[in-house]
Amino acid sequence: MNEEWLPSGRARVCGVIGNPVGHSLSPLMHNFYARALGLDFMYVPCPVDNHRVEDAVKGAWALGFAGLNVTVPHKQRVMPFMRELDDSAAGIGAVNTLVRMEDGYKGYNTDAAGLLRLMTEHGISIGGRHCLLLGAGGAAKAAAYLLMKEGAASITVLNRTLPRAQALAEEMNRRFGKETMQAAALADWTRLERDDYLAVQTTSVGMYPDTDRAPVEDPAFYRKIAAAVDAVYTPARTRFMEYTEQAGGQAVNGLDMLIYQGVAAFELWNPGIRVPDEIIAQSRQKMIRALER
Ligand code: ATR
Repeated sequence: MNEEWLPSGRARVCGVIGNPVGHSLSPLMHNFYARALGLDFMYVPCPVDNHRVEDAVKGAWALGFAGLNVTVPHKQRVMPFMRELDDSAAGIGAVNTLVRMEDGYKGYNTDAAGLLRLMTEHGISIGGRHCLLLGAGGAAKAAAYLLMKEGAASITVLNRTLPRAQALAEEMNRRFGKETMQAAALADWTRLERDDYLAVQTTSVGMYPDTDRAPVEDPAFYRKIAAAVDAVYTPARTRFMEYTEQAGGQAVNGLDMLIYQGVAAFELWNPGIRVPDEIIAQSRQKMIRALER
């Protein structure tokens, strides 16, 4: 690495594929880690059309890419082109990180690890807890996998479209050989019996620019929640978080999930490297500033 921080001819190159990728904060994060740690590494955004995913994976391989991140809408599409799948990717049914091996890429999913680290650092435990999962899309899958794996006592997945919630619950119960997960329509939250749920909010409701909305508006819902993670991080304090805190619960936004899934990917691509906490804190400030722009 030279003084101007330019990659050398031997640089380890990684990138992110998605459609679109222009909004992604990952290039900022990974290039910052590389620079802060003095690594000969660079990370580039790569927009990939939906019908070009196979070409993109093969192309990245041919170009010598050490790895890729995969974002919406390609996380499932890349799966057939992996040489091998890590347990997390197989369990979630989606890949967000490719790591170069001898004869192809191995697919990982670091989203669940990212969510776990966020929860651990905020003192939120999963084992034995009764959980609510709001939403049944891509982000919900990673959260469902983590809650199952970490031994939640029960998980109620609430979704606007009930069949999607049912499909997710069935898939996870089958995968883990348990009956931990049950499905309900979002509108049926009134039937929830407890007042100490751990809630993970994975719908897009409340995300910028619809910042004055929450998936449920009734304050009675929020009195059932002891701790909540909102996967949304724009705005930094969502309406869902506001309602949870007003009802006396703990609420955390999803920015650290994004950050820690990135750290996990970075450490997979750079074996032996551990990104120090103070560097992570600096990257968080940079990302917050970028989001404010
Ligand atoms: P992601 O990959 O971010 O999870 P997704 O797969 O499109 O994105 O899932 C979006 C989630 O937000 C879904 O659970 C969706 O509910 P439906 O399955 O009923 O579509 C939920 N969602 C989006 N808009 C919503 C709204 N206005 N009210 C309630 N749920 C909503």
